[in-house]
Amino acid sequence: MRIHWFHQFFVKSGRKPLRNWLILCFVSVLGLIVIFSSSSSKNLNSVASSPIPDIYKNYRKLKEQATSDFLEIRSLSLGITHIEELDLCGKEIEHYVPCYNVSANQLAGFGNGEQFDRHCEVPQEGQRCLVRPPKDYKIPLRWPAGRDVIWSGNVKITKDQFLSSGSMTKRLMLLEENQIAFHSEDGMTIDGVNEYSRQISEMIGLGSDSEFLQVGVRTVLDIGCGFGSFGAHLFSLKLMAICIAAYEVFGSQVQMSLERGLPAMIGNFISRQLPYPSLSFDMVHCAQCGITWDEKDGAFLIEVDRVLRPGGFFVLTSPASNIQAGLLSAKKGLTIIPIEELTQKICWSLLAQQEETFVWQKTSDVHCYASRKQDGVPPLCEEEVHTQSYYQPLLSCISGTNSKRWVPIQNRSSGSQLNSDELEVHGVHPDDFYEDSQVWRSALRNYWSLLTPLIFSDHPKRPGDEDPLPPFNMIRNVMDMNAHYGGLNAAFLEEKYSVWVMNVVPTEVPDTLPLVLDRGFAGVLHNWCEPFPTYPRTYDLLHANGLLSLVLNSECDVSDFLLEMDRILRPEGWAVLCDKVQAIEKTRKLVTQIRWDARVIELQNGDDQRLLVCQKPFLKK
Ligand SMILES: *[C@@H]1O[C@H](CO)[C@@H](O)[C@H](O)[C@H]1NC(C)=O
Ligand SMILES: *[C@@H]1O[C@H](CO)[C@@H](O)[C@H](O)[C@H]1NC(C)=O
Repeated sequence: MRIHWFHQFFVKSGRKPLRNWLILCFVSVLGLIVIFSSSSSKNLNSVASSPIPDIYKNYRKLKEQATSDFLEIRSLSLGITHIEELDLCGKEIEHYVPCYNVSANQLAGFGNGEQFDRHCEVPQEGQRCLVRPPKDYKIPLRWPAGRDVIWSGNVKITKDQFLSSGSMTKRLMLLEENQIAFHSEDGMTIDGVNEYSRQISEMIGLGSDSEFLQVGVRTVLDIGCGFGSFGAHLFSLKLMAICIAAYEVFGSQVQMSLERGLPAMIGNFISRQLPYPSLSFDMVHCAQCGITWDEKDGAFLIEVDRVLRPGGFFVLTSPASNIQAGLLSAKKGLTIIPIEELTQKICWSLLAQQEETFVWQKTSDVHCYASRKQDGVPPLCEEEVHTQSYYQPLLSCISGTNSKRWVPIQNRSSGSQLNSDELEVHGVHPDDFYEDSQVWRSALRNYWSLLTPLIFSDHPKRPGDEDPLPPFNMIRNVMDMNAHYGGLNAAFLEEKYSVWVMNVVPTEVPDTLPLVLDRGFAGVLHNWCEPFPTYPRTYDLLHANGLLSLVLNSECDVSDFLLEMDRILRPEGWAVLCDKVQAIEKTRKLVTQIRWDARVIELQNGDDQRLLVCQKPFLKK
């Protein structure tokens, strides 16, 4: 995709009564104008660098009008008339996450913990409505203030839950009036996160936690992250920590983290693999994350091993002293507890143990597996599993050992621009990669300037230099719904915007997720015919390049897809959809239904790409 922004113009969308009569009169001249415009557009481009003469300005207005009316005429001819706006849903589903209805899952026959899994195949309640914000909902504070203070009315948690909670991170919070404050950076001593992070770095053999990056730790999967304070601290060290936790009705760790502007998604691995490829993370962290690691013949540990990169670390903090007791008894020559026995069988070595915290390191030597002598060691998986880790059962074998991505984290180049050897591993030509980066660099600059309510004003104009720019920290949680190489994420980083991006790679397109993760970004596989595993109102910006076409050509319903986007978008959040004109036009009508402000923007590059820039209003009734 290539975007040229010269001669861009606007087509006002939605909600406007159709001026049928005028349009009919206009039809007769339309043909002429279209012919004129196609013959002279080359001339237009050639004067791009010189001041535009008046004649071209007038011409441009005319063409603008022609396009807008043409689109309306076409919608008339397609027989699309007024579309009903959807109502807000009831109060009882303010925090609705589809696919996680435990009682419905139980009725459908799921047990053994699987009722807490995501089951989109279990029929959902059929009502089509917009998930409403809670009565006391307030737009979150801007980053970084919003990291430390959130509105308690925005999340589902009770005061008692705070006060009774005993975990390390939870105790760092104070409940004040209508706010929840997380004191993550004030150097608290005994159970402070800074102290904990330093402890882990020392156990790995580092002088301080600012050295994590130097030993190749860039990405961390934080299982059961409390309310994200550890991740917030790692973020300040320039690490990317992604929180996953099971769906929780009250006091959700994922909802709380996202509300703070920290990367998180609902995820667990009770019976199925995580939606990440093997060799994805440099560190996996679990502090009292509620997993009984020696259950299911070690399948949970094997799953952690799968997503862990060679030489990566597994950090476990567990007050349940069975591990400790086990290790102690092992020292005394008594029975070795299963977890330690298991870790040896999968070529992890225990680096250190202090109080309740254990640090293991996965081998960086692929030959380790052949030298295992114990009985009953998990075998290596037969061949590289080519199926994507999406709804795949947990494995009992070790994966990733045949992968070209088997590179110890200590040996990997740093930074998100991969070198040509690393690109070759992914079958990507450096020129393609470079070109993609360029496209996104310029696209970001242009998208960003559009994200201002000005674009919906009655006198459409592209915000000019005289208009205030959107503040840098207006947007924090970004989802790139069809992320490809993660180019938008890279562009954000280059421009030093204080955002993080959830890079989603749809299951229907070529799987670039390993490349995205190798760049040190957050990413996940997802089938967009299903709801995304997150709470309502968790993203400030949804970006989708080419995804509408994909959805329109799939089995699933594009209005359900839009409804889902509406669910996960914060009030006053933005959606930027880039697609073929046909897809954009179909969608533009439906966007009226979910009551977004929307505007179609034509990219003046002679092809049929359009942008649909939308803002979700803050609806109260
Ligand atoms: C969950 O499922 C039960 C049983 O099918 C149903 O009665 C209930 O309304 C569902 N809840 C939601 C929020 O959909
Ligand atoms: C990683 O780096 C070390 C030290 O430079 C080297 O000995 C080792 O062979 C490298 N391993 C791989 C897999 O490249």
